[in-house]
Amino acid sequence: MMNNTVAIAVDGPSGAGKSSLSKRCAQAFGFMYVDTGAIYRTVGLAALRRGIDRKDSEKISGLLPELSIELKYNEAGEQRMLLNGEDVSDEIRKPEVSICASDVSSLPVVRAFLMDMQRSLALRYNVIMDGRDIGTVVLPNADLKIFLTASAEARAQRRWKELQQKGIESDYLSVLTDIRYRDEQDSSRAAAPLRKAEDAVELDTTELDFEESFAAMSQLIIEKLCISPAVEEA
Ligand code: DC
Repeated sequence: MMNNTVAIAVDGPSGAGKSSLSKRCAQAFGFMYVDTGAIYRTVGLAALRRGIDRKDSEKISGLLPELSIELKYNEAGEQRMLLNGEDVSDEIRKPEVSICASDVSSLPVVRAFLMDMQRSLALRYNVIMDGRDIGTVVLPNADLKIFLTASAEARAQRRWKELQQKGIESDYLSVLTDIRYRDEQDSSRAAAPLRKAEDAVELDTTELDFEESFAAMSQLIIEKLCISPAVEEA
């Protein structure tokens, strides 16, 4: 079947700015933004609530059929995650859920369970989809693949500020420790580990602020896809 939609895959480690940059580019170029980390976080939250060992494949596999996970967009165009009908979009951002998400995401049974959901969105809409394995596994034929990186310290600093702004208690060192834990686990797991696709363009944002990173990412989109921003930036 011909697929006429356009897909941009954005992968990289936690806190590299994938979500905020992808969201902004999606707005600017008229794409749908899909945050796949939020989907893994929703499964992680379900496991946490049930008190299930998040690395026990059999137990998690028993939990999956009981989960209804939906991705919705509100009027402001923000992605919301529903877990069995409940909006858990804010709860999944808590640091303890980040670790659970990383744990459950290393299970092949979880990755297989979420695959169709991700692919079917890209078949129906023009998407900018961010995650860890989008360019390598989920959308290997994406029209543009971007691998976003930054040093662990720069990423921890940004994530810590973000949590502070949201009023979520945390300290810089534990945020850095969490980031390192997830880097290690997300990159070393056997199932769809975090890695740069061979045909991905790497963008290191360690020394760039948000606007500079956005300009660099927009430039990649303009050059590779030969499109211009759909919405003039204010
Ligand atoms: O992007 P994030 O920090 O919200 O992702 C949460 C966790 O989910 C992350 O530690 C790894 C996992 N994840 C994944 O394995 N594959 C994806 N496509 C997206 C996220």
